[in-house]
This record gives sequence, C-alpha cells and structure tokens, in this order.
Amino acid sequence: MVIPRLSSLLPCRKWAKSDWLVASIGCVLIVFFLSFFFDPASDSVPSVDRSPTITFPPDLVKLKLSSKAKERGAFCLDGSLPGYHFDKGSGSGSKSWILHLEGGGWCNTIASCSARATTKLGSSKYFEQEVTFEGVLGNDPSQNPGFYNWNRVKIRYCDGASFAGRPEAEFKNETRLFFRGQLIWEAIVDELLLMGMSNAKQAILTGCSAGGLAALIHCDYFRDHLPKDAAVKCVSDGGFFLNVPDVLGDPTMRSFYNDVVNLQGVGKSLDQNRVAKTEPSKRMFPHEFVNNIRTPVFLVNAAYDFWQIQHVLVPASADKDKSWAKCRLKLKECDASQMKVLHGFRSSLMDAIGKFHQSKVGGMFVDSCFSHCQTTKPMTWHSPTSPRIENKTIAESVGDWYFNRKPVKLIDCAYPCNPSCYNMNFT
Ligand SMILES: *[C@@H]1O[C@H](CO)[C@@H](O)[C@H](O)[C@H]1NC(C)=O
Ligand SMILES: *[C@@H]1O[C@H](CO)[C@@H](O)[C@H](O)[C@H]1NC(C)=O
Repeated sequence: MVIPRLSSLLPCRKWAKSDWLVASIGCVLIVFFLSFFFDPASDSVPSVDRSPTITFPPDLVKLKLSSKAKERGAFCLDGSLPGYHFDKGSGSGSKSWILHLEGGGWCNTIASCSARATTKLGSSKYFEQEVTFEGVLGNDPSQNPGFYNWNRVKIRYCDGASFAGRPEAEFKNETRLFFRGQLIWEAIVDELLLMGMSNAKQAILTGCSAGGLAALIHCDYFRDHLPKDAAVKCVSDGGFFLNVPDVLGDPTMRSFYNDVVNLQGVGKSLDQNRVAKTEPSKRMFPHEFVNNIRTPVFLVNAAYDFWQIQHVLVPASADKDKSWAKCRLKLKECDASQMKVLHGFRSSLMDAIGKFHQSKVGGMFVDSCFSHCQTTKPMTWHSPTSPRIENKTIAESVGDWYFNRKPVKLIDCAYPCNPSCYNMNFT
C-alpha cells in the first residue's frame, strides 16, 4: 500500500517549488531505504559486521488511537484521530518515561497539506498497526543501556507542523484541513499522565527531525506537566534546522518555515519559548529560542546533516545545472570547492549553537557524519560500529548527561576525520 504511493513521488524534481519539502519526504524515504537495503556497504564503513546478531526478538509495539483526542478536538490533518505506540516500563524503569515525537517534514501550502492528509503523515487511516521500537526506544539492554526498561512511547506525527498548529488558522470554507498539532500534543500528554506518567520520577522528551524540533518547542510544556521532583530533560535529534541561505543565496528554508507558521498558526505555540520579539519568519528556527528553554536540553546533530544539505543548503531547486547532483548524495563525490561550502554549513551550525555550548545544564553530540536521525537506529545509537566521539556512542553520551555522570559537550573534528561515522550514500 505504501510502496506504490511513495514511488509515485519518485520524479522528485518535477514537483512545484511549494511542494518540494513534502515530495522530498517521499524521495528521502525511498533513497534512504534503497540505500540501506541495497547498498549496506556504503563508504566509510569500517570492515566490521554492520548488523550485529539480534539477541532480542524485534520489539513490535501496537498502535493505540488517542482516547482523549476527540473531546479535545485533536485531529490529524484529515480529521482522523491521532495515535501513539506504548510499551510499558518494568522493574527499575517502571516510573521512568521516554516520549519520542515522530518526524517527517512539514507542509506549507493548502496543496501540500491536502496531499499529506492522504498519507500516514497526515492521517491515522494509513498508520501501521504496529512498529518496531529500536535505538532510544529499544527494549534490549545491550542496544539501549539507559532506557530499555522505561515506559516508552512513540507519538505519531500527523499534523505537518511539528505538533504546533492551531485551529484558529483553519479555513472557514470547503478546504477541509485540520491544524491541530498543538492539541494532539496536549491530548496525548494528558492521556499518558492518566496512564501513570503523573507519577514519573524520570522523564525524557525526544524526537527526530521535525519531531526533534517539536521536542524543543514543547520541552518546557512537558516539564511543567510532570511532577516537580521528577528529573525531566529533552533530547533533540536532527532537529537543529539552520536559517542559512541555499547555495544560490536564496532563503529557501526561512521562507518555507514562514509559510508553515502562517498557514498552520504556529506562532502562538512558539510564544511559550519567548520568541515574541523575533521576526515571524525566523521563529521556528531552534537557534532563536533554544537558549530560552528552562529545561535541560541535549542536542544530537550531524554537522553534515544530509537532510539539511539536501533540502536547506542544496535543494534540487538551487542546483539547476546539476553540478551538486553527486555531491549532495555522497560526500566522497564532492570537489574541493563544494567541500568548502559544506564546511561552511558546519561553521554555521557551530555559530548557531555557540551560546548554547556555554549552558551549564545542556549537552551535545555533534558528529561530523553525513547522517540524520541517529538515535532511532541501533547502528547509530549504540552498537560496536556506531559513530563515536571520544570513544563514546550517542547512547553513552546521552546517558552520561541524563544521569549526571558527567557533563557532555562533544563536538567532532571536521569531515572526514571520524572513521566511526556512518556516512550515507544515496547514489
Ligand atoms: C479557502 O480559503 C483559503 C484562504 O482564504 C483559500 O486560499 C482557499 O482557496 C479557500 N478554499 C476554497 C475551496 O475556496
Ligand atoms: C573504546 O571503548 C570500548 C568499549 O566501549 C573499549 O573496549 C575500548 O578499549 C575503547 N578504546 C579506547 C581507545 O579507549
């Protein structure tokens, strides 16, 4: 069911500019899966076993549609009920909760949101009935040493605005689109509180990509709805989107975010992070509010984040002569001048997190890999072959920081210095 729909998105470059981010989700997914399944031996892979023997059966977790959603008016883009997957904690983890917010781009126009409403990123009609929990959500102590026995929740993304849209922005005409991301978030938190989260002693809000951004946007809300004495922190993976121009000098990402904020009424949700003085088109960039978040935050981000390179820095629309065609898919194909541009992107990230780096309670793991969403797969989260900085995996780094074992501010040297990187190859 999903495959034909995604393949219909394959001619990525034929899409209208306004639709490119949505189309690109399809393209990225396809390329991602193709490259994973048909080219597991991509570059920079050390000559070790990339798929460690699975000692635990896959952790398949059933979908639950939210019971609180209807009364709160919390709906996916198409009006269907939102949902989540919940795996109950046990033993020493029974009063600990980790919530993961799913990612998957955004929609910025009526057309792209309408298209999205007919996919699993806009409607629960298309959700999988069960998903595998792995990486930071896994139940195998050898793959997820810190959190394997916690209550683990994956909240599905079906609103298109990082769980932050508002009904006030909906159209009062036949355009049938629900902008209820903020309500989905609030309804599911309510429901989880009733399921035992109100007694939490430890809790983490995390998420990847658009969900990593959502984890930052909602971090203080999460903190404020949990017991005062609970240790609450947030981990944003691949969510630090940068306000940088593309290679043609156009503000592609800024105008895209501006459209998302205006279309879905995200402004009010962002206000909780005290961005009122910031120009509306900039408010969705984490750089603008990460230092205002009161709750401790950990940033996991690749300095050569492939999603940002392919959509923020070198979107297909900015590569008309296709001179970047190979390099944006595989870093080894980049020439010296392109590498310079990519190092410049890394410098922009360093500048953007400069002040956050001074934070006493914050933590970070910024590797120099061509990667994106590194906490959700065992091979990048915690395995004998996963990326390391100072010989520590992401799981060990997040664990050291969360459990206050030591401060963690890990910043990798520039590409290609880190041989443990899992660099994606999309060619
Ligand atoms: C509904 O209103 C919006 C905003 O005014 C407009 O862009 C859209 O085309 C309208 N839809 C219909 C079906 O009239
Ligand atoms: C790196 O860590 C592993 C275990 O996590 C350890 O076996 C190895 O000796 C460490 N290597 C160095 C160079 O410290």
